[in-house]
Amino acid sequence: MPAGKPMYQISELQQIINEQISSKRYPVTPKELYEPITYMMGLGGKRMRPALLLIACNLFSDDISAAVDPAMAIEVFHNFTLLHDDIMDLAPLRRGNQTVHKKWNTNVAILSGDVMLVEAYKLLTSINPALLPDILTIFNRTAVEVCEGQQIDMDFEKQEHVSIEQYLEMIRLKTSVLLGASLKIGALLGGATSADAKLLYDFGVNMGLAFQLQDDILDVYGDPAKFGKQIGGDIISNKKTFLLIKARQLALGDDAASLQKWLTSSDLEAKVSAVTALFTKLGVRQLAEAEMERFAEQGFASLGQIGSVPETRKELLRSFANRLFVRES
Ligand code: IPE
Ligand code: IPE
Ligand code: MG
Ligand code: MG
Ligand code: MG
Repeated sequence: MPAGKPMYQISELQQIINEQISSKRYPVTPKELYEPITYMMGLGGKRMRPALLLIACNLFSDDISAAVDPAMAIEVFHNFTLLHDDIMDLAPLRRGNQTVHKKWNTNVAILSGDVMLVEAYKLLTSINPALLPDILTIFNRTAVEVCEGQQIDMDFEKQEHVSIEQYLEMIRLKTSVLLGASLKIGALLGGATSADAKLLYDFGVNMGLAFQLQDDILDVYGDPAKFGKQIGGDIISNKKTFLLIKARQLALGDDAASLQKWLTSSDLEAKVSAVTALFTKLGVRQLAEAEMERFAEQGFASLGQIGSVPETRKELLRSFANRLFVRES
């Protein structure tokens, strides 16, 4: 357990998380239930949510030891959602490696995911009983919202017209609330007032909106070697991303007809390159980046309103958030 310290560096927090992950042992049998968990957790990833939880705790408290298990709970929960998300999205690659449902099979990915959800709850049981009901309520609400967002995301694949507002609400649910909850739970564990915890939640939700917009951009324009996921996966499954919705709003004449035609094409390779070319021609990436900027500013405004923490102490969170927006994976 980490000893108390005024301010941790991000690398130190990441080290705490990685040590927890690499020292965790699951039962040996049934092999096909537990091996995928160790595999998935060991593939790396940015570990952003547990880092946010620990940073938020450290904003209010020098002692972050009580936040380590809850931070792990959030990371295990996140990885569980990825196991199931990859089944739903028919994704072959995750963090540069085969997805669990490809390496094993779909049933394995479902059941290992189920155990991971339970493991996440087990990690929450160490929380101070005075805080546990409130934190469980946040966690439960968030977990349900993620499922709602995931269902809406899939509904939208089949839905012809989706507005930007509907898209933003969908990504708020599937992605943003978990970032908000990580920060809020960390803040409460650090002794923050509920008003400050709420401001951090709002900061996290806005960061999450920007983060998912960036994820959608990288899905099209990312470097396959760095992104670790299949480029063009969202185009293949007709995901109603900001890019596609905007492109459909902006495309005129031949471009509109061409976009419409490609959306129903079964030549997937040609579809990805043609739709990408239309996105580029219509300049939707720049519009998405401007939108990211807007959410980042809104988030930073909420962070600025936390009066009980000196600005210097917020720097770590600011730089961590800024780094996420120039990420490549
Ligand atoms: C992937 O999350 C799912 C999204 C919300 C886009 P991350 O991009 O945080 O994935 P890892 O954990 O770093 O691999
Ligand atoms: C996933 O969104 C959000 C959750 C896993 C809840 P995506 O489907 O865009 O995430 P990636 O791109 O597969 O990581
Ligand atoms: Mg996916
Ligand atoms: Mg998905
Ligand atoms: Mg994605």
